[in-house]
Amino acid sequence: MGKKLFIETLGCAMNVRDSEHIIAELSTKEDYELTGSYEDADLILINTCSVREKPVQKLFSEIGHFNKKKKRGAKIGVCGCTASHLGEEIIKRAPYVDFVLGARNVSKITSVLHERGAVEVDIDFDESTYAFSDFRNTPHKALINISIGCDKQCTYCIVPATRGDEISIPPELIVQEVTKAARSGAKEIMLLGQNVNNYGRKFSDGRKGIDFSDLLNMVSDVEEVERIRFTSPHPLHMDDKFLQVFASNPKVCKSMHMPLQSGSTKILHEMKRGYSKEWFLDRAFKLRDMVPDVHISTDIIVAFPGETEEDFEETMDVIDQVRFEQMFSFKYSPRPLTKAAEMTPVDPEVASKRLKRLQDRQTEILDEIAAAQMGKVFDVYFEELRSGGAVAGRSDNNFMVQVQGSEELLGKTVPVKIDNPKRMVLYGEVVQQEV
Ligand code: 5AD
Ligand code: SF4
Repeated sequence: MGKKLFIETLGCAMNVRDSEHIIAELSTKEDYELTGSYEDADLILINTCSVREKPVQKLFSEIGHFNKKKKRGAKIGVCGCTASHLGEEIIKRAPYVDFVLGARNVSKITSVLHERGAVEVDIDFDESTYAFSDFRNTPHKALINISIGCDKQCTYCIVPATRGDEISIPPELIVQEVTKAARSGAKEIMLLGQNVNNYGRKFSDGRKGIDFSDLLNMVSDVEEVERIRFTSPHPLHMDDKFLQVFASNPKVCKSMHMPLQSGSTKILHEMKRGYSKEWFLDRAFKLRDMVPDVHISTDIIVAFPGETEEDFEETMDVIDQVRFEQMFSFKYSPRPLTKAAEMTPVDPEVASKRLKRLQDRQTEILDEIAAAQMGKVFDVYFEELRSGGAVAGRSDNNFMVQVQGSEELLGKTVPVKIDNPKRMVLYGEVVQQEV
């Protein structure tokens, strides 16, 4: 009989995909099947994130809890970014942990499993050409890695220390995976990388001559693919060629993540982001010009060390000028192995006030944006059943849209007229049902 695997996934889409890879390897090579209950599991994995401080503290209490409640003889493994950065320390602090598997060592899951005390956290390990077994959490869309690691050195960010330097995955492997996923029903493809529009900078076989715009066109040539999304691009690499392909390729969804981080050129410099406020605004306005319905999302860090009231006002100014359709905002959190951790922090009370001001303003903007969607018709790709006989999906430009309906809508793209737009969800009715 198969053994049972419980896996908890924290953090970003990259981690979600890493977990899918882990599940794929363990189910095809080690006869594991998934369980939703850690008390029944023979193997408990936690795939961690270390981008901010809180989840790291939570980790140790959580694995302590797993250890108390687990079945006799069950194993516990810690994977992901916190595994990369704490390494052996995890086993020193929590000796009941069986193995530690870093974010760039996912393909070693079937070997660490059989080696008590194994710590595999090499951030130079190259798994860019490793062919993982197949598993996806959702049938209608597929996450596909296009690169591993990150070549930037943003001074607040721990990721280069947990996922190592950037290597692109060969395009033929990506196209092969995309084709397989799309043929099995995943009409929407999400291309994943720390810095997707830097694609092609370095391959492990040394080849050159292909960039992210070329890759987008190659992926869109796969007939069964209907929609292409990607995360995350970097504002610095948003050159005209990229914006042009984004705007003109009909399969590329009109939704762009533009992580601003700060609106102050001075702070952007301290963060080593490589662009100025003006460059960011220029790219955002150009995008809005080229693609009138474009949905732009962003990430903001408030109270980076040295951020003055004036710097913060610059961020507020960008928020008002660009009017992002979605914003993820965070208080700066000092991380080990980063340059900014040595800088003098902003008073925590000031930081909280700034975050609140930013979020309050964004809420107003979102309400206005939602209200402006009234009566519009969007093509919605349905992917999720909701309670109360509802089905949800996304418009091409990434609004969450919900209608009354059944599973017949799942996996289909259907026009929906919005009659009740809310901040987080636009409610509407199917215009013409092709079932
Ligand atoms: N503190 C706060 N937020 C951070 N992020 C990354 N590092 C930190 C940090 N040290 C945010 C950035 C990034 C998102 C994934 O997390 O905004 O874009
Ligand atoms: Fe993803 Fe960054 Fe968290 Fe790692 S640290 S899981 S790359 S968000």
